[in-house]
Amino acid sequence: MSGYYLTVEARDSEDDLSDWEAPVEIDLANIQPSFSNGQQSSWKKIRSIIRWSPFVQVFKKNRYPWIQLAGHQGNFQAGEAGSVLKKLDVREQKCFKEVMEDILRPYVPEYRGDVERSGEMYLQLQDLLCEFDSPCVMDIKMGVRTYLEEELSKARKKPSLRKDMYQKMIEVDPNAPTEEENQQQAITKPRYMQWRDEMSSSVDLAFRIEGIKKSDGASSKDFKKTKGRDKVLETLKSFIGENPEVINKYIQRLRAIRITQESSDFFKRHEVIGSSLLFVHDIAGNANVWIIDFGKTEPIPDGKCIDHRTEWVEGNHEDGYLTGLDNLISVLEEIQGLS
Ligand SMILES: Nc1ncnc2c1ncn2[C@@H]1O[C@H](COP(=O)(O)OP(=O)(O)O)[C@@H](O)[C@H]1O
Ligand SMILES: [Mg+2]
Repeated sequence: MSGYYLTVEARDSEDDLSDWEAPVEIDLANIQPSFSNGQQSSWKKIRSIIRWSPFVQVFKKNRYPWIQLAGHQGNFQAGEAGSVLKKLDVREQKCFKEVMEDILRPYVPEYRGDVERSGEMYLQLQDLLCEFDSPCVMDIKMGVRTYLEEELSKARKKPSLRKDMYQKMIEVDPNAPTEEENQQQAITKPRYMQWRDEMSSSVDLAFRIEGIKKSDGASSKDFKKTKGRDKVLETLKSFIGENPEVINKYIQRLRAIRITQESSDFFKRHEVIGSSLLFVHDIAGNANVWIIDFGKTEPIPDGKCIDHRTEWVEGNHEDGYLTGLDNLISVLEEIQGLS
């Protein structure tokens, strides 16, 4: 590994709100657990620094720092060439199995079965980055809400108060909690998530930008307050860059995803929450989009169907996914028209 440089960003918590950060280059040969200077373990600090690139992948003799833009830390591991391992969650596993038999299959990472690593089970998924050269990557979380109906009714029956979420809330907006919440110094999880949805573009556009990494390594997750069509358009424009081939490919692919979702049996029968579209392009003009993350995709009870466009009222399970996709395509078409 000596001489291999990993591009990383300095940040200290998943919900860090710092602005665009320049990449920091670290020689992996020098990353050792023992160069603490008498203070807190430097190893721990370095581990938190390299969180955007949790490991190095190898594909066709190329080595590249794998990029995890969003989601839970520690969920992914390097897999066999061209695959990545995601911690197995039974709900997600079931969805991947079903999607492999559905017309949506070409639009999700290929599911290659399960593997065990150090006593833990993982889903083996196609690594969507492996065919790209220094890719730009963007994660867009789809839908008008990021909590399942099931979570809402559980929280109502048995409210559990979260002090950590209250802290995160006041860090962003000290005026957001109600008087009662200030007294308790805690909030429920759905309350926290509803507040995040409203603050971002999830409620107004039915999608939101979760994270972006550009090819020069500059990256940001600071989109919690990116709300409104104009702001979102500017951010997407800057992600896509100047190459018209890239935006054309993105739009074509999204239209294909939409038309397929509109007739997919799997899609009709599931409440799709917290799922993302992963955008990847590179300097050579390669560009593609995939549907990822079925960790919160739940079959609708009693075999009912949804259309993903009808307005959500509790009980109808609608998620606004296709409303979000309509808006996203329309914003990208506007950008295409500008160039
Ligand atoms: N198959 C994949 N190929 C490449 N990158 C992926 C893949 N799956 C996930 N990622 C990366 O990991 C991040 C988190 O993935 P996700 O499935 O949403 O995890 P979580 O369930 O923890 O939210 C994504 O934003 C993306 O950067
Ligand atoms: Mg996710």
